[in-house]
Amino acid sequence: MRILYLGDIVGTKALDVVINNLNSIKKEYNINLVFANAENVADGKGLTRQQYVIMQRAGIQAISMGNHTYSKKTIFEFINESNIVKPANMSEAPGKSYLTIRYNDKTITLISLLGRVFLNMSLDCPFKTIDKLLKEIKSDYIIVDVHAEATSEKLALAYYLENRVSAVLGTHTHIQTADERKIGNTLYITDIGMCGPYNSVIGDDALSIINRFKTGIYTPTKLAEGPIIINGVILDLDMKKIWRLNKIYG
Ligand SMILES: [Fe+2]
Ligand SMILES: [Fe+2]
Repeated sequence: MRILYLGDIVGTKALDVVINNLNSIKKEYNINLVFANAENVADGKGLTRQQYVIMQRAGIQAISMGNHTYSKKTIFEFINESNIVKPANMSEAPGKSYLTIRYNDKTITLISLLGRVFLNMSLDCPFKTIDKLLKEIKSDYIIVDVHAEATSEKLALAYYLENRVSAVLGTHTHIQTADERKIGNTLYITDIGMCGPYNSVIGDDALSIINRFKTGIYTPTKLAEGPIIINGVILDLDMKKIWRLNKIYG
């Protein structure tokens, strides 16, 4: 079972590049299923229904989000009936805490957790949340997207979930890390990176971010233009292998 998991897709141009190149990437790596983090598709924040439908039609079978899950308010209208998992430790928010999909005779479950370090949100404990979920989920493979800022929190969750899930994949920082490995039999990487503007500060135009850092004045930023980087990982869940995907288009 081979899964391509794409990092946070930032903006609609990146979504177009993902969709236009998905079939060739799938062929190149013998991919069975495609999952993606889509929290930044709508101008960097959130996901619209139309964008969700485009992703579904392109063959992205399961979608995780993150701290921007509810940034576009229309998501409240379709998240419950979608193939999107909400951050499971936002227990009071609408959406599914996990999503199980079938491929041939196997089931694969996707869970998303938000970290609590440096994220100013009201969140349940990710450790206790996953303990509760794992008691009720029966699935051949379980993939956990840990959407968090701190590498320590991601690694701690990975060791906590060692041999209890198939993979723990970090998202949110938009920068791919080079530490893909196994922890016991659990595949792990601190961050799978992003699909978004390559010449940017985590997707945004560098000048506007520099200005914000220099002056301390909050100014709205815009997404950067130019080439698109496609980051993600390929998971072979039977061979227990993980490879990084890193391609630049345009
Ligand atoms: Fe993101
Ligand atoms: Fe995020």
